[in-house]
Amino acid sequence: MTVDIDWENLGFEYQNLPFRYLSYYKDGKWDEGKLTGDNQLHFSESSPALHYGQQGFEGLKAYRTKTGEIQLFRPDMNAKRLQKTAHKLCMPEVPTEKFIDAVMQVVKANADYVPPYGTGATLYIRPLLIGIGDVIGVRPATEYIFTVFAMPVGAYFKGGLVPSKFVISRDYDRAAPLGTGGSKVGGNYAASLQAEIEAKNAGYADAIYLDPATHTKIEEVGAANFFGITKEGEFVTPLSPSILPSITKYSLLYLAQHRLGLKATEKEVYVKDLDQFAEVGACGTAAIITPVASIDDGKTHHVFYSETEVAPTIRRLYDELVGIQFGDVKAPEGWIYKV
Ligand code: PLP
Ligand code: COI
Repeated sequence: MTVDIDWENLGFEYQNLPFRYLSYYKDGKWDEGKLTGDNQLHFSESSPALHYGQQGFEGLKAYRTKTGEIQLFRPDMNAKRLQKTAHKLCMPEVPTEKFIDAVMQVVKANADYVPPYGTGATLYIRPLLIGIGDVIGVRPATEYIFTVFAMPVGAYFKGGLVPSKFVISRDYDRAAPLGTGGSKVGGNYAASLQAEIEAKNAGYADAIYLDPATHTKIEEVGAANFFGITKEGEFVTPLSPSILPSITKYSLLYLAQHRLGLKATEKEVYVKDLDQFAEVGACGTAAIITPVASIDDGKTHHVFYSETEVAPTIRRLYDELVGIQFGDVKAPEGWIYKV
């Protein structure tokens, strides 16, 4: 079957594909799980996921290679991160094997929707873990749903590999110092909505969040991690417990060091030192690599490399990362899972 989709012009929007995976946790164990055509979930109105934010999610992609095969990028890392999120919010783990099997089933069942090679589009996969059931006091659920759905997507930030303008959020934090910033939970995103809307209304791609304790250090770039290349050629990305540990970021740290021969470091990045960077980017599954053209902070305007052109090291990192994801560049051992 061929599906009628304008692959080159996809945005980042929900689509109701034919199949998703659904599994229930009850009496201390997960059921087998199965594919279903129904995109509606049915659960108690008093579910802790709805009232107390007891939920977590993941984001990963399936890529179509030049030879027409389909592959996943480091899904084991997403499984592990969801397990960490589950511990943080007192939810049961989804075992890595079950997680990867669910993702594989969904991709295979919706294979017609994995965009063709060369369009730049991919199949975005969204695993979701929620606490359900009749609970009204503040306590963890005893029943859970693990579901995985997917949809073809294009660029998250408009234009893709095009330098974008960002603004530092001085009025809102997305996470608390000892809170859930390092976990992929909905509450962090709820806390970011106001800042994002205000940034977009002011003409920026998104807001940049600072460390919530001192507001002196860079943390996240919207729903992506921050990285920069210093004028001395070092790859630097912020270190903080309230940053989401991005799989793309850890992949870039490795590639910067092992493929580009750069010194690559996670360390605190102070706003006052932003001008140490020759190039700045945002990275994530959805964002891929988005060059940061400039960062505004009140009256201060920092420009990196160029407001219109992609900086050279960012271009090399992009080619390496995306080349690996689409199967054009040899991947480090264990990074690619064939579907
Ligand atoms: N930071 C936030 C807040 C995110 O939502 C994401 C997306 O998952 C990332 C960073 C990037 O993480 P990853 O590279 O694992 O997709
Ligand atoms: C991802 O990159 O997978 C994300 O989760 C970003 C998303 C919140 C749109």
